[in-house]
Amino acid sequence: MIVQRNVPLQPHNSFGIVARAQQLVRIADEADVAAILADPVLREMPKFVLGGGSNIVLTGDVKPLVLKVEIPGRRLVDDGPRAWIVEVGAGEVWHDTVQWLLAQGWPGLENMALIPGTVGGAPVQNIGAYGVELQDRFESLDGIDLVTGQPFTLDAAQCAFGYRDSVFKHAGDPATNAFGLAGRALITRVRFRLPKPWKPVLGYLDLERKMAETGVTDPSPMQIFDWIVAIRRAKLPDWRVLGNAGSFFKNPTVTPEQCADIIARDPKIVHYPMADGSIKLAAGWLIDACGWKGKSVGNAGVYERQALVLVNRGGTEHPATGGEVMTLAKAIQTSVYERFGIRLEPEPVVV
Ligand code: EPU
Repeated sequence: MIVQRNVPLQPHNSFGIVARAQQLVRIADEADVAAILADPVLREMPKFVLGGGSNIVLTGDVKPLVLKVEIPGRRLVDDGPRAWIVEVGAGEVWHDTVQWLLAQGWPGLENMALIPGTVGGAPVQNIGAYGVELQDRFESLDGIDLVTGQPFTLDAAQCAFGYRDSVFKHAGDPATNAFGLAGRALITRVRFRLPKPWKPVLGYLDLERKMAETGVTDPSPMQIFDWIVAIRRAKLPDWRVLGNAGSFFKNPTVTPEQCADIIARDPKIVHYPMADGSIKLAAGWLIDACGWKGKSVGNAGVYERQALVLVNRGGTEHPATGGEVMTLAKAIQTSVYERFGIRLEPEPVVV
């Protein structure tokens, strides 16, 4: 185990924000975590788990001990009649894993192609795109509780997945007996359940358009993968070229009454009824309607083609600061609240 000091984090966050880790340890396996927890000094330090850095905003140097998860490995653990179960190390790159699974003939994650980040980060916010969420293809995961040192295995119910939400985003509360693992779990391995027979998920409008354009109505997993890559490239910026953390806000949900009230004033609002009776609104549309597309605060800006994405316009030379990103985010929240009475909730973790 090597503790590195003063490590630049700009290459390790997809916004490309400049910040340093005072101390950083690379985690290649469970033994590295055990070594940290056995060390009398490191054991006591607050810790910050870093995966692909694709869902964080760094607002300054990181004082907690940074644990950079680089656990490798991909293997089929079960080939049953109903599903392939595949175990993947938390440090594997998400998109490469999706591609590799397809190449093995184990489809199911193709709708989530090109999502930035690592496999270990995926359950934290229950990543999702184009009609499929991680929880739909999830079997279980392994991790280590950094406070108690105990290893754990959680199934989907125990992960308490919700829209861009999980047990890893909530602090436990002994007063109410609520279980939460925010800030204390290091996910080491994730097992995917890829159902057999494979069935395409094609309900999303952008995919229906692709079918209409190409005349292909029974696409293969690979065809869907290619479509998703093309759809994302057309509307989302590549973080290697223009730093960003994907959608910056969650899509808010409102009651049918609130929605009717907004429609009376703004008939064009994009909204989707949910199974539980609530209505989900497109945050990108709300931000766009407030005139934010293309606007900037310092070098932090609102992407021209998708108002839900905040970008770093300063590149690696004069990158946006975390402070500029948060000032812009707060200004957007204020204007959406003033116009629609809706509080947008940020998706990335602010560090
Ligand atoms: N819209 C606008 N103006 C904008 C942006 C969007 O009018 O500037 C409208 C679009 O025309 C569309 C609607 O809003 O009618 C929804 O837009 P889109 O289909 O692009 O999806 P989204 O709701 O903005 C969500 C996820 C994305 C995911 C896509 C596809 C969230 C917060 N975001 O975006 O996830 O890729 O659906 O499933 O749920 C991410 O989380 O980082 C992410 C990129």
